[in-house]
Amino acid sequence: MAAILLLTDMPTRSRKLASLLEALGEPVLVDLLDPAEPTTLPAPESIRAVVSDASLSRSTQVAALRRHLGRLGPNRPPFLCLMHEDTPRARVQAQALGANRTLSAGYAARSLAKTLEGLFVGDRLLDAGRATTAGAAAADVVLTHLLDLGRAGTAPTRGLVRQGAELVLSALDKADVRTWLDVVWRFDDATHQHCLLVAGLAAGFARHLGMREADCHELTQAALLHDLGKSRIPLSILNKPGRLDDKELAVMRTHPTIGYDLLRDGDYPEVMLTVVRSHHEALDGSGYPDNLRSDRIPDLVRLVTVCDMFGALIERRPYKKPLGGDEAYATLQGMDGKIDIDLVRAFQPLAEAAGAAVPSIAA
Ligand SMILES: [Fe+2]
Ligand SMILES: [Fe+2]
Repeated sequence: MAAILLLTDMPTRSRKLASLLEALGEPVLVDLLDPAEPTTLPAPESIRAVVSDASLSRSTQVAALRRHLGRLGPNRPPFLCLMHEDTPRARVQAQALGANRTLSAGYAARSLAKTLEGLFVGDRLLDAGRATTAGAAAADVVLTHLLDLGRAGTAPTRGLVRQGAELVLSALDKADVRTWLDVVWRFDDATHQHCLLVAGLAAGFARHLGMREADCHELTQAALLHDLGKSRIPLSILNKPGRLDDKELAVMRTHPTIGYDLLRDGDYPEVMLTVVRSHHEALDGSGYPDNLRSDRIPDLVRLVTVCDMFGALIERRPYKKPLGGDEAYATLQGMDGKIDIDLVRAFQPLAEAAGAAVPSIAA
């Protein structure tokens, strides 16, 4: 069990507090005024949190606190400082020592465990955010390579696509969809943003549906690849700051077959090729490029289509404002007959999570 370091200038008082912390970690009491250095301190990496229960208006206590905190290095665990004096000097000392939170000592008995728990949640969220940022940046490097290969008319290897999907899935395993989208909105290029967004939604959807591990990977790979054909659509059409005219729309609508033609000689499973070719098909036969009807549209395609459509609705484009999560979800619900409404229903928790991360309309 990880330790909670309780640094005190009055061990008899702090012993009671230590017993309140037992559910969160093993309390280790250190007497700051004991001139002998403790010999059994836990290793810094095994310390989950530090709590100080000492007067901050005494220089001996402050110096001893500084020494113990300094020993924990730059990746110090969260530090909660109990305030025995409500004075400006004590507050400045707490700040200078790097306290993540302060709590009046008078409330310690009632609120210490709860306050500390709040700090852990904040810390976990921070860690998840960092992992997601790194995961999205790494997935974007892979995606850039995928699209560069597509632009050059070369099929990306299955290994590269696998690597990209693994990065997306592992980021989504550490954080939620909302955190992923918060990171993805920072990418400028619309196609990159869209592919990462759809891949993240697909990975989150796969996990939510409890799909088998291999199927989670297949769906995420398919989502990452689905718009590969856009790499060969002229940028003047792809990034046009307005609605496409009929001629431009016809060019844009070639991207599923371009992507399919790029990949079909590689070692991709048939169903993944079908996602690339058929993600714009509709169950009633009104989609493109093949006007397929529902019986010819496999589940993997339907799953990507739901994520793709929701992603497109919440994205900001020069010619349209992003829809809020609720509005985007209502739009999907209104497409009964065209997209798989059972899957739309199952997608609701993802839509709710993602909707909260839709970029502000006023920005
Ligand atoms: Fe597409
Ligand atoms: Fe798409």
